[in-house]
Amino acid sequence: MALRIEVTGNKPAEIAAKAPIAIFVNEKPAALPPWVRELDRPLADAIRARWEHTPFDGRQGKSAFVTAADGSSAFLIGLGKKSRMDPESIRRAYGSLIKAARTERVKHVAAALPAGGDAAATPEAATVGAILANYLFSTYQFDKTPLTPQVESLTLWEPAAARRRTVAKGVTTGIILAEATSRVRDLVNTPANDLTPENYAKIAAKWCDEAGVKLQVLGPREIIRAGMGAVMAVGGGSANTPRFLIATYLGRKRQAKVVDYALVGKGVTFDTGGISIKPSADMWEMRGDMMGSAVMLASICAAAKLKLPHNLIALAPLVENMPSGTAYRPGDVVKTLSGLTVEIISTDAEGRMILADALTYAQRFNPKLIIDCATLTGAIAVALGDVCGAVFTESDAHARAFERAAGETGEKVWRMPLYSEYDDKIKSVVADMMNSGGRYGGGPIAARFLKKFTGGFPWVHLDIAGVDLDKQGSTYCPKGASGYGARLMLEFLRK
Ligand code: BES
Ligand code: MN
Ligand code: ZN
Repeated sequence: MALRIEVTGNKPAEIAAKAPIAIFVNEKPAALPPWVRELDRPLADAIRARWEHTPFDGRQGKSAFVTAADGSSAFLIGLGKKSRMDPESIRRAYGSLIKAARTERVKHVAAALPAGGDAAATPEAATVGAILANYLFSTYQFDKTPLTPQVESLTLWEPAAARRRTVAKGVTTGIILAEATSRVRDLVNTPANDLTPENYAKIAAKWCDEAGVKLQVLGPREIIRAGMGAVMAVGGGSANTPRFLIATYLGRKRQAKVVDYALVGKGVTFDTGGISIKPSADMWEMRGDMMGSAVMLASICAAAKLKLPHNLIALAPLVENMPSGTAYRPGDVVKTLSGLTVEIISTDAEGRMILADALTYAQRFNPKLIIDCATLTGAIAVALGDVCGAVFTESDAHARAFERAAGETGEKVWRMPLYSEYDDKIKSVVADMMNSGGRYGGGPIAARFLKKFTGGFPWVHLDIAGVDLDKQGSTYCPKGASGYGARLMLEFLRK
């Protein structure tokens, strides 16, 4: 259910009469905002009583629910340190509010926008935090009773009339960004028996249609005819045949032919490992192995909705990696679209195979930059855990641009090396290269493998294998798929 967000200039007492109002409190010194005195007596008294009896320290993630004798109520929400207010603290504060409201089964909430912030950026962050905290994936629950209910509406209080239009714009942008993240979460959470390459292509077609993005879908015959031997090798073991998606958004007024960014995403709808089959423990997580492609498709659609002034292409090879009588095998030599051949050491190193063809395909658009995003290696998950994604690039400027974007969105990245020495690990005696170089240095080796298919174009590779799921849940991410990456991509594209 979509969270309704409205902006109001009404007096706090009027707002609080309709829905529990949030009182954001900074840490040390924690103080109630002056407008609390303007609230109706019973509520103002209840808040002051709570404040005096159990000190509220204003730390990030802290919340308290206060009810008054007349049935009215309010939330106290920690904002963290005043000196360290940034978009992330706003997202967390609104996330905490929605989380607390869901726990209290409150359907409507109101909140003041923290004063002094940027008129558009603050409501944008508030919207993103609120919508993402309100996320629920209930498609597959027949019995909905055990689910935490969602909040239906959020009223944002902006007392300054002159700021209200800009605030509303910030909300609109926030809705588009949060929708992109939610779509990634939805696809990662959707089981592979439903999210086959064929069905995935249908969902992508809906997204693109709605956003005004052109979509071309190649089926197995066209993929073979195009010469994408790696996509066919990986997808050949499954009855659910591959698709290859080409999405186009032209946002530049002039120079319609120039492609600024080619966005390439790994779309393995399920990764069993193939003949090099994975152990069964945690194999279910591989239903999310299409996340990189979801990030890129959700991003290109959101970019279109935001009318970003770029020409973008998104490429998504969609395959299911299964062991079967038609599956590719260890020892096989596969001819990729580039002409380069790959000796298969592990059929579980399938992501780099399909990306090899997609990266080669990207070159025909002559893009200024190729960016790929993939749940590529367990090694990156071991190295960085679920805290940050890995960014690989030979361009310091692009690395910095992603680090800056990550600082804005809270989707952290850490730069990893592309030293040429890693190539030694994937030298083959029968083919141009091998697809696996063993356990050590798995992330950089995979990145060096991909680099061979970039044709010397400027290139950024994001390995997001560790950040696909948020298993504990956090302020604005309920347990499950994190949706990491779409907001990061969009922040990069916006600046
Ligand atoms: N999809 C996996 C990587 C992965 C692991 C994603 C854990 C998310 C969580 C990828 O296809 C894979 O299996 N990689 C292998 C490569 C190896 C065979 C060279 C890996 O990392 O073990
Ligand atoms: Mn694999
Ligand atoms: Zn995989």
